[in-house]
Amino acid sequence: MQNPIDTLNTVIRNRRSIFPRQFTGETIPRALLLQLLENANWAPTHRHTEPWRFHVIQGEARERLGQFLAEAYRANTPESEFSAAKYEKTLRQPMQASAVIAIGMQRDLQERVPEWEEIAAVACAVQNLWLSATALGLAGYWSTPKAMLGTPAFLATAPGERCLGLFYLGTWIPEAAPGKRSPIDEKVRWIGSNCTR
Ligand SMILES: Cc1cc2nc3c(=O)[nH]c(=O)nc-3n(C[C@H](O)[C@H](O)[C@H](O)COP(=O)(O)O)c2cc1C
Repeated sequence: MQNPIDTLNTVIRNRRSIFPRQFTGETIPRALLLQLLENANWAPTHRHTEPWRFHVIQGEARERLGQFLAEAYRANTPESEFSAAKYEKTLRQPMQASAVIAIGMQRDLQERVPEWEEIAAVACAVQNLWLSATALGLAGYWSTPKAMLGTPAFLATAPGERCLGLFYLGTWIPEAAPGKRSPIDEKVRWIGSNCTR
């Protein structure tokens, strides 16, 4: 059996943003979706506020989402800059996904922790979901269109809930998807000596 750290290294380093144009459009069984969401639910959370919320948009609801996003693009784009191709792409994109998951951050109504900690906890939950999808051979990416941020009319957000974007989830034929990162050395400062005595 592979050592857990080897498995983890592989999954973390192979996770990529895979865009809907590469999706193959198969249905993802509810049991698998629940597995992803269950792992998201195990994210760290200060004071156990568990601020992540997920709106799973499937089936015909994806069509309505596409119309909402495309119309928002039309409404917010000056006529001189409007592209019919971009409108069509926006309209179709949700239909290419098996499910689109709107990511909610539920602000603790008593504000027991700063808002940034709630956002950080939601991001951890999304990473759990994304890594789980990768391990299952599924594809996804986090999209943050302005029309879906905050309290978009498309969603029935609860009081104090703020949408942080959409997670497009799909099936795909896995292929090499090289990532790009600058070296970690450039982002680390070592403080003190590596000695416990
Ligand atoms: C909070 C967040 C928001 C993002 N929003 C978008 C987005 O709106 N559009 C997009 O193309 N990618 C978006 N991405 C994906 C990044 O572009 C992507 O993670 C980055 O290019 C690194 O590629 P990788 O995920 O394959 O490692 C977002 C990622 C994060 C973490």
